[in-house]
Amino acid sequence: MKLTDDERAMLEGRDGPAVARAMDLLWRYGTALGAERLVETRNVAGTVTATTPFMRDFAVQRGGFDAVFSEFSLDSDEVVPIPKLKTFTSHLQLGFDPNQPEAMGVSEEIVQFYRKSEAYAAGLGVQLMNTCTPYQVGNVPTRGEHCAWMESSAVIYCNSVLGARTNTEGRESTGAAMLTGRIPYWGYHVDENRRGTHVVDLDLVVESTADWGMLGYFIGDFVQDKVPVVQGIGPVPNLQRLKHFGAAAASSGGVEMYHLVGVTPEAHTYEQAMGGNRPVARVRYGAAERRAVYERLNANGAATDVDYVMLGCPHYTIEQIWEAARLIEGRKVHENCELWIFTPRAIKTLADQNGYTAIIEAAGGKIFADSCSAMSRATPKGTKVVALDSAKQAHYLPAILGVEAWFGTTADCIDAACTGRWNGRLP
Ligand code: F3S
Repeated sequence: MKLTDDERAMLEGRDGPAVARAMDLLWRYGTALGAERLVETRNVAGTVTATTPFMRDFAVQRGGFDAVFSEFSLDSDEVVPIPKLKTFTSHLQLGFDPNQPEAMGVSEEIVQFYRKSEAYAAGLGVQLMNTCTPYQVGNVPTRGEHCAWMESSAVIYCNSVLGARTNTEGRESTGAAMLTGRIPYWGYHVDENRRGTHVVDLDLVVESTADWGMLGYFIGDFVQDKVPVVQGIGPVPNLQRLKHFGAAAASSGGVEMYHLVGVTPEAHTYEQAMGGNRPVARVRYGAAERRAVYERLNANGAATDVDYVMLGCPHYTIEQIWEAARLIEGRKVHENCELWIFTPRAIKTLADQNGYTAIIEAAGGKIFADSCSAMSRATPKGTKVVALDSAKQAHYLPAILGVEAWFGTTADCIDAACTGRWNGRLP
């Protein structure tokens, strides 16, 4: 892989040992991928904090957070001093909400450690957005902008809805990008890889957030890691619908890029979306396919007594919190059930200001920032049966926590929270 003079100077230590390690990592990574060069990036979404028990022990034993960055973000056994970051970086989701640790079963000792870790990240210049949805709280790359993002649901949104360019990066490559402003030029950075490969023709109107989640789940299964082009879109989907659609497609398959003809920025027409490609395969999505997806997402549900309703995967928008508040206002969460909603901390602040937190808390629900049950492995004590409005979470939570899961609309979930029973039906 070719390096520019500037990149070679970084590799040779001009900007210090951490930047040299970062450039060495990118050179090895890019070479393994077959990339011909690096590309400049001014936008990273990654993670640098030490929240797992293993990383906490590592930080203590090796003398601090530079050791964690060296080992886990730069693949360097030797501890190197980490300078201020060169690249704008937003922090992804974390393991718990540091402002409500008891409710998530986190000890004070861990909270104190975490606060030091967060202060370290802020000191480097990391933006503490703490969410899997950086695009809803200030990190909104423009069309064509080269990025280095982790988190599958964010990556697919970045590529498809914003028209920016990223592959699904990891902690190491984003760590190196933070220090160098570079990432290998391959995959979805390259025009030809962004063209459609498979075609999906809609035979029905897809409208609700749950329906967009089901469609995404169907398409991910169909195309796996290829690029679907969807035709026949009815009402234009908003941010939350595309957030659920992409997250689901990236869960049942490994989709990182899609086109919705007439909606997404590289698909004004079918021809533009395909970019001259002939479709590898084509499928229709109608009532029978929708029912089959619904049944598959509910295959884990057996007992209808629901212990826990989790909303906010990917992290809820303010519109979704507003909707949840409207659905629950004047009602009460059932004594045998809990309702937890997850959102970025900036949106939690807005929900507080708008009075939605008060409405949800008055009903007996909770709003948490920064994390989710899949990331934190935290659920209310004794949880056996969960209700979800996220196809992504319905895909992962039973496998991660060994619980039964029901999938449905937000209204179905709020109803389950208030009755303690699952009564969801496919409308
Ligand atoms: Fe976000 Fe957790 Fe879902 S990190 S995408 S809410 S699994």
